[in-house]
Amino acid sequence: MRDIALFGTGRIGRIHALNVVAHPALRLKYLIDPAPHAAELAAATGARVVDPREAMADAAVAGVIVASPTDLHLEHSGIAIDAGKAVLCEKPVDLDLQRARAAQHKLGAKDARLLVGFNRRFDPHFLALKARLDRGDIGKLESLHIISHDPAPPPLAYVRTSGGLFKDMAIHDFDMARWLLGEEPVEVHSAASCLIDPEIGAAGDIDTAKTLLKTASGRLCVISNSRRSGYGYDQRIEAFGSKGMIRADNLLTSSVSAWSADGMSSDTFQNFFLDRYADAYRSELAHFVDVIGGKAAAVSFADGVAALALAEAAAASVRTGRPVRPT
Ligand SMILES: NC(=O)c1ccc[n+]([C@@H]2O[C@H](COP(=O)([O-])OP(=O)(O)OC[C@H]3O[C@@H](n4cnc5c(N)ncnc54)[C@H](O)[C@@H]3O)[C@@H](O)[C@H]2O)c1
Repeated sequence: MRDIALFGTGRIGRIHALNVVAHPALRLKYLIDPAPHAAELAAATGARVVDPREAMADAAVAGVIVASPTDLHLEHSGIAIDAGKAVLCEKPVDLDLQRARAAQHKLGAKDARLLVGFNRRFDPHFLALKARLDRGDIGKLESLHIISHDPAPPPLAYVRTSGGLFKDMAIHDFDMARWLLGEEPVEVHSAASCLIDPEIGAAGDIDTAKTLLKTASGRLCVISNSRRSGYGYDQRIEAFGSKGMIRADNLLTSSVSAWSADGMSSDTFQNFFLDRYADAYRSELAHFVDVIGGKAAAVSFADGVAALALAEAAAASVRTGRPVRPT
């Protein structure tokens, strides 16, 4: 049994907590969160709410999950690494590229066991798409389409501290693009608007964006982001190669469809990330158990920093109206 401590008991922290409880090799021992709702999760899981010092001083704690607000990820991952724990750090690694780079020597060190929570890399459908790409099923990859639209915007309070659409939401797609393209994008061209809710604009953010990434060899990737679909969580990938196309489609809440004189109707898309990526979060945690045991993390701190660099380049491209070279 490996003991786990969890920073942050909000939306994603709760998912990780329940997955830890369900994992046969893990025990959720400590929750660290100043909010009163932490006590509810403690009651539901049998974990204790403690301050970080107590959790980090416990030698039995082998792994720490960082699911606190983004601006605390570096601090919480840092104290866990200092205490000799393996870390699963939620995305993005930070809100600021320079600050994240400054932490590379510690959080990206050879002996630091740190996995970044880009859960989509663990999704069985996207893994199957990647396996076919790697097998050469469509020849040489030339371009990608990534569609990533949320069903509805998050609360404004979340928007204000999220770091904005590119760092909070599109960062998953930047990581998917790097992973699937197999090459670093060298040019980022984004256009963005606030079309859904003027309050999002008043909070300094955008809610709709299109981004074009280009790699050194000329591979292209188009990413479409929206904070509102109106028809569920839209998560699709299309890869185009020299010999064909591979597509990963949306998942439906059931396989039931109906036909009538008005045409065909199917069930709805799975509602949001908690449903669509439930398997991915479980597989990510299973990989974290391997990382605790010393296996190299499939998503490194450097991957987290590289995605953040693309997010900053996208924001700079919107500001300047020009393609930007990520730094
Ligand atoms: N991988 C994914 O699919 C995914 C999904 C959602 C969120 N996230 C990321 O996870 C992080 C949290 O997002 P969320 O949606 O769960 O937010 P949230 O606001 O629901 O939860 C954040 C939690 O952190 C707690 N917190 C605040 N200060 C703290 C402190 N000093 N120490 C410990 N806990 C503290 C809050 O009380 C709250 O319970 C963000 O970085 C977000 O980008 C990732």
